[in-house]
Amino acid sequence: MKFFRPVLVAFLVLLPVSAFGEKAKTIEELASMFDSGSCKECHAEIYAQWENSHHARSLMGVLGGLFMTPLAMQGKTPFSPDDPAQATLDTFPCFKCHLPQAVLFADDAFAKDYAKALIAQDKTRISKLRITCITCHNTKAIIHKRSEGHPEAGVLYGSKEIAAHDDKVFKKVKKSSIMDHAIMCGQCHGQGPNLEFENPVQCATLYGSYQHNYLSKGGQKQCQECHMQKVDGLADHLFAPNWNDMEATKKLLQDSISLDIDTVGYDWLRQSKEHKPLVVVNTRINQSAGHRIPDG
Ligand code: HEC
Ligand code: HEC
Ligand code: HEC
Ligand code: HEC
Ligand code: HEC
Repeated sequence: MKFFRPVLVAFLVLLPVSAFGEKAKTIEELASMFDSGSCKECHAEIYAQWENSHHARSLMGVLGGLFMTPLAMQGKTPFSPDDPAQATLDTFPCFKCHLPQAVLFADDAFAKDYAKALIAQDKTRISKLRITCITCHNTKAIIHKRSEGHPEAGVLYGSKEIAAHDDKVFKKVKKSSIMDHAIMCGQCHGQGPNLEFENPVQCATLYGSYQHNYLSKGGQKQCQECHMQKVDGLADHLFAPNWNDMEATKKLLQDSISLDIDTVGYDWLRQSKEHKPLVVVNTRINQSAGHRIPDG
């Protein structure tokens, strides 16, 4: 078995080129189609930030919980199949935002494999499924597909055109018109209930709050200006808050939430010679995020 491993690895590395045409049937196939390992060599800082981000563990949740498990368990949700072997892509409406590549590039066989892995609580396999560099810089990089066309295989999208990009598979970078705009994030960060499903689900609604309670009050910043401020000259891909890092999250909350308290103490002359001590307390909690917190 050991002897065959290099052959298998070579096959998996080559897979992204050919597999974009065919749909993935297993966790490993989809993971390897969207594998961003090759980006690490040249974009080491961004890669390290991304690896620590929630986007890199988008099916795992805080502290590694497998939060979609109830969907794979009989009778637990309206989506649950009688048996994990009967799961389909419709079993997991959550893929729309937690793993959009599954909707486009995987089929029902993948959903069965994933449902079985959930029942087996196989964190090692499931953690390979992530919102990777390719998910954002290809799949989610174009919104107006009728006018601009669909994202092309072998092309990445960034904030500028690069005719010769050194990656072996993605040899070109095209300019995306949304990379530095909030709507890029709004595709997954939610506007309200997702009414397109037979049973609507609601998860993140933060983009709705950004539009209706920030922009409408004169807010001017894009999500990227607050969440991707440059670190050493490059857009930060950690996307704080990182809920698994309590210290940094505490600091972020302290910097972004303020509590002002004014008090006035006085004596109320209720009737002649009867002084009642009273106090007026005004509290004002403010926060500087571009949307409500917490979300969801
Ligand atoms: C062999 C080195 C190399 C590899 C591998 C590589 N890149 Fe790049 N990439 C570069 C260089 C160099 C630039 C910057 C070119 C410039 O700024 O003119 C760049 C630019 C980019 C940009 C455009 C940045 C912008 O300003 O919008 C994106 C997006 C990008 N790379 C993503 C990726 C992703 C995703 C991968 C993995 C699939 C990857 N790169 C793999 C070298 C590499
Ligand atoms: C409209 C897109 C969207 C859909 C659909 C969606 N989610 Fe989410 N979900 C998000 C985003 C974005 C976050 C993280 C940001 C936030 O919490 O504001 C999130 C966060 C979560 C979290 C908290 C993660 C953690 O780190 O612990 C859980 C749990 C979760 N989703 C479960 C689900 C489940 C289960 C479904 C399907 C039934 C689902 N979501 C459907 C977008 C979505
Ligand atoms: C959640 C979506 C998302 C993921 C995942 C993601 N990126 Fe980005 N990336 C962006 C956005 C949005 C920008 C533009 C930021 C801006 O203009 O402020 C960007 C910018 C960049 C840039 C240009 C940086 C600069 O400041 O010049 C490079 C290079 C890049 N990304 C590479 C990568 C690589 C490599 C990965 C994976 C390790 C990755 N990205 C993962 C959304 C993403
Ligand atoms: C492909 C869908 C997708 C896109 C595009 C996307 N996100 Fe996310 N984002 C998610 C999901 C899903 C999570 C939660 C993952 C988890 O913890 O399970 C998340 C987590 C986060 C978090 C961590 C906090 C939290 O509650 O989990 C921040 C901050 C964040 N995203 C900001 C952004 C910003 C800013 C952009 C745009 C530049 C963006 N995201 C683009 C899907 C997306
Ligand atoms: C004016 C700056 C600003 C803008 C604009 C902004 N954010 Fe935030 N955001 C913050 C701050 C500060 C926090 C930290 C508060 C905290 O720790 O929860 C935060 C928290 C979050 C969280 C964690 C939510 C939670 O449950 O606490 C997510 C996810 C997120 N932002 C995504 C986005 C997305 C997506 C956009 C654009 C649609 C955006 N943000 C626009 C400043 C901003």
